[in-house]
Amino acid sequence: MRRKLAAGNWKMNGLSAQLAEIDALRTAHPDPSVDLVIAPPATLISAMVVSAADHPLQVAGQDCHASESGPHTGDISAPMLKDAGASHVILGHSERRTDHGEDDEDVRAKARAALAADLKVIICIGESLEEREAANTLEIIAGQLAGSLPDILTAENTVIAYEPIWAIGTGKIPTLDQIGEVHDYIRSKLEARYGAGVGRGIRILYGGSVKPSNADDIFAVSNVDGALVGGASLKAADFSGIITALE
Ligand code: G3P
Repeated sequence: MRRKLAAGNWKMNGLSAQLAEIDALRTAHPDPSVDLVIAPPATLISAMVVSAADHPLQVAGQDCHASESGPHTGDISAPMLKDAGASHVILGHSERRTDHGEDDEDVRAKARAALAADLKVIICIGESLEEREAANTLEIIAGQLAGSLPDILTAENTVIAYEPIWAIGTGKIPTLDQIGEVHDYIRSKLEARYGAGVGRGIRILYGGSVKPSNADDIFAVSNVDGALVGGASLKAADFSGIITALE
């Protein structure tokens, strides 16, 4: 039985005052029955770890470099995230792929570095609108899975997030059948590559315009083990509604 996971991605949002939302979340869910992870901007990781002390909420980075250290101005390594108190890192988000030209090979190298630093990885994949309209979604998903995932991983240290690019921040979501088709396909690919034990244990999140109002429907779809939430993770009241739908 896979434990459900609600993950929030704050992206490039949040000054220290935003940590009040963590207090509100703690109050609303003192003993959550699902896993909770939030990825704040790097500047807030340490402070969020403190805010989440004595609570099961875990903190994630939004990216890491593939090297442990070195001359890479502005970058953050996996051991640095671990040192700051993060337990997870999001990798391969479509905004990283677009804004920073990251490809599958980069994502796989980062995943290897993160796993070596004892971080859990949340690896994002998803098709563009053009790819969806050209009926290439499953082919794109297969290619991203093959290229972005390292050969060695476990059900405990890896999470896949399916985020159709056209659903991110747009208020549009795929039909529930479309979500189910992709999640079932990802599951079959994971089982084929990693064996039934690992393949069935890896959690698959849906991401893209998840809100309290659509969360119940999305979470009822087969092989949806939770959500990676952007905008609606910034307010405790919204994220709380999503957590409740998952519990
Ligand atoms: O990583 C989460 C994300 O890309 C979805 O964003 O704002 O559509 O929930 P949003």
